[in-house]
Amino acid sequence: MQTLNEIRSTFLNYYGDHGHAIVPSSPLVPRNDPTLMFTAAGMVQFKNLFTGVETRDYSRATTAQKCVRAGGKHNDLDNVGYTARHHTFFEMLGNFSFGDYFKEEAIPLAWDLLTKGFGIDASKLLVTVYHTDDEAVEIWKKHAGLSDDRIIRIATDDNFWSAGPTGPCGPCTEIFYDHGDHIWGGPPGSPEEDGDRFVEIWNLVFMQYEQFEDGTRRDLPNKSIDTGMGIERVAALLQGTNDNYSTDLMRSLIEASANATSSDPDGPGKTHHRVIADHLRSTSFLMADGVMPSNDGRGYVLRRIMRRAMRHAHLLGAADPLMHRLVPALVAQMGQAYPELGQAQTMIEQTLLQEETRFRQTLDRGLKLLDDELSGLPEGANLSGASAFKLYDTYGFPLDLTQDALREKGRAVDTDGFDDAMAAQKAKARAAWSGSGEAADATVWFDVADKAGVTDFLGYETETAEGKIAALVQDGKTTDTAEAGQTVQIALNQTPFYAESGGQLGDTGVITTTTGTARVTDTRKAAGVFIHFAEVEKGSIYNGQDAVLEVDATRRSAIRANHSATHLLHEALRHALGDHVAQRGSLNAADRLRFDFSHNEAISAQDMARVEAEVNAYVRQNSTVETRIMTPDDARALGAQALFGEKYGDEVRVVSMGTQDGSGKGTDGTTYSLELCGGTHVARTGDIGAFVMLGDSASSAGVRRIEALTGEAALSHLRAQDALLTKTATELKSPATSVPERVRALLDERRSLANEVAQLRRELAMSGGSNAPEAQEINGIAFHAQVLTGITGKDLPALIDEHKTRLKSGAVLLIADTGGKAAVAAGVTDDLIANLSAVDILRAAVAELGGKGGGGRPDMAQGGSPSADNAEAAIAAATTVLKG
Ligand code: SER
Repeated sequence: MQTLNEIRSTFLNYYGDHGHAIVPSSPLVPRNDPTLMFTAAGMVQFKNLFTGVETRDYSRATTAQKCVRAGGKHNDLDNVGYTARHHTFFEMLGNFSFGDYFKEEAIPLAWDLLTKGFGIDASKLLVTVYHTDDEAVEIWKKHAGLSDDRIIRIATDDNFWSAGPTGPCGPCTEIFYDHGDHIWGGPPGSPEEDGDRFVEIWNLVFMQYEQFEDGTRRDLPNKSIDTGMGIERVAALLQGTNDNYSTDLMRSLIEASANATSSDPDGPGKTHHRVIADHLRSTSFLMADGVMPSNDGRGYVLRRIMRRAMRHAHLLGAADPLMHRLVPALVAQMGQAYPELGQAQTMIEQTLLQEETRFRQTLDRGLKLLDDELSGLPEGANLSGASAFKLYDTYGFPLDLTQDALREKGRAVDTDGFDDAMAAQKAKARAAWSGSGEAADATVWFDVADKAGVTDFLGYETETAEGKIAALVQDGKTTDTAEAGQTVQIALNQTPFYAESGGQLGDTGVITTTTGTARVTDTRKAAGVFIHFAEVEKGSIYNGQDAVLEVDATRRSAIRANHSATHLLHEALRHALGDHVAQRGSLNAADRLRFDFSHNEAISAQDMARVEAEVNAYVRQNSTVETRIMTPDDARALGAQALFGEKYGDEVRVVSMGTQDGSGKGTDGTTYSLELCGGTHVARTGDIGAFVMLGDSASSAGVRRIEALTGEAALSHLRAQDALLTKTATELKSPATSVPERVRALLDERRSLANEVAQLRRELAMSGGSNAPEAQEINGIAFHAQVLTGITGKDLPALIDEHKTRLKSGAVLLIADTGGKAAVAAGVTDDLIANLSAVDILRAAVAELGGKGGGGRPDMAQGGSPSADNAEAAIAAATTVLKG
């Protein structure tokens, strides 16, 4: 038997041997095609190669592509479990030519692989072609020797393939396998074609055209090939069954489900096991590609699939959550071909467990409500829209889950009534919201959200993507176009740009359409819409255009490193200072991070060093950073740090990083840091590079602030510090290690020299040099008055004292000319202060010098003036005071 894993290898190696590059599967979330909800075919990642927009260093490729068909144009969800071949997740094997070979080589390559490589009996194969494609008919005849009755011409869209409403497309030829007349069904195009006898296994598309939104088509620059073969179907026929769910891979998942519920895989619960096996694959792969359960967009499709599986688990009688227990079986089967699955295993298991635990809390009550409603309804009547809405709103039953439950009972839902109830609720939410006082022009964004839906954020996984412009806004009003030189706010259906929140700044970058370029200077959010603040730099951009979105990756990666470092810092501070440390605010910019937290006193140098060392230890640990979605309560129960005062919805994103090294206190016992956070983070803590704290300061009462750097900025900072040290050492002519001692020695030397200089100045002033005047006798009082240079105001008191000592009894006036200004001091010996005050002498002198005031005690007074120019007059004025 050829296992599914062997079939995949055979296919890829066959085309590899024929000169094709073996290209890995692209993610399930299409980054290069805003018209698609999920990747639903192998050609999606190559769209721009077909249209010639992009070229790569290969012109032939082969892939095994992960595909999800649930939601959007291709949606098989409702049928899964009830048929032999529908899946929400499947793998598509394909070979592609980008202007290299065309039909003449594609058909023989496919035929030879099927008949020789896989050894399929040629007589069981037949094909369809587009009704006008004579060329394909001829190649089939010539190479495969098929007779006319085994080449069926089809005139419908079945043989004209397109991925979405726009993009590359073309006629196709499909290869069918006849499972034999023991199974009911007829060949394609016949009235019995829906039977299971003739099964399409491979679609070869001859890509020739590009379809545009206005309905026009152009010829592609190069004719190309896109083929797609569902691996499950070909595995089924190679394993002798016509049921995809009986292939080795699906069977092992079904058995895992049966074992876990102690039930018979082929018994009455058979459908449930099939649904579970299929949904296990789609949900796990979606999460591995970054989709998380939520209430909008892709995340909601994921949640719908999960809940559908969980109801079937419940119907099997599973007493406890089931889905997460099946993940190891899936990883065992598919982890080798898709390593991302194994890497995300823990996160997938935990998310499934959380979701199932939570959904089970309302599932029973919802099902009871459903039974009650149904028992009151007449035979065959549909469930009212209002009841279905209540199940949705109160019990978390997605509409398709209710429909799935009713299907078994042969009933349907009044979907119009459901839509009305949903619209009424939205209107109510809007009314409540518009009073909430957000940004002034936010009403326009609410309109955009109503019309175009909320923005799907791709930026956790990628920094470039394509999006479709959903609105252009200028001055609070929508507009159709914006031209070079204008500023404009742009909303798109999906974006990799992060909108400012939780302290992390919004992304910047470039948005390009076929007609213009806009530079994004900031990104913010209102009403679930991501608003790109932009300036059109070239040409014009138009509402409705497809656009290429490129985040400034260097800036974002610096922001990411800072944000992740903030989480590590938070935990390290809790370890060093205590559990009272709680986040009070943060800033994650490209050049630095800032973290405010509750704490009452300055942080000691020792604690700072400890915190910095601990953060760096976890950086070096280089553990993966993981995110999960859960309820706020569950997150708190795990010990996650929540931001004080922040409002959380009914689900939160939890970011964990670092594994306890045994020394830390930790949160959930093994994880180092666990925080509620919507921001973007590094993949591994090692990506932070390095962490350097700049210092701690008081931010407000009871709140400290730490600023820090990471990665390149941290290194540049250290390098700059080092350069300063080197420069200092060079100036000091000493090795860097001796700089502190040298500086200390120099400071000591300077202090003693300064003392010495002061002493010398005083001595010089006392000796008076050659121009020292003798003391005069005024009114019987010895009076020494002198103008000094080369000394400062600080030297005056000591000089006054010395003159007083020398005079024994008398008065002194000293005017220090300090260059542009003057310092003045007066003194009177104690024996005279009863009748004479130094303050009076000083004031009289200062007034003459053009200064104001001055003061002190009767024995000593000091003051200053703008200049010493009138020193003579000042001395004369002092003399007058002495004269009484
Ligand atoms: N794009 C085509 C399909 O999905 C062939 O790969 O069927």
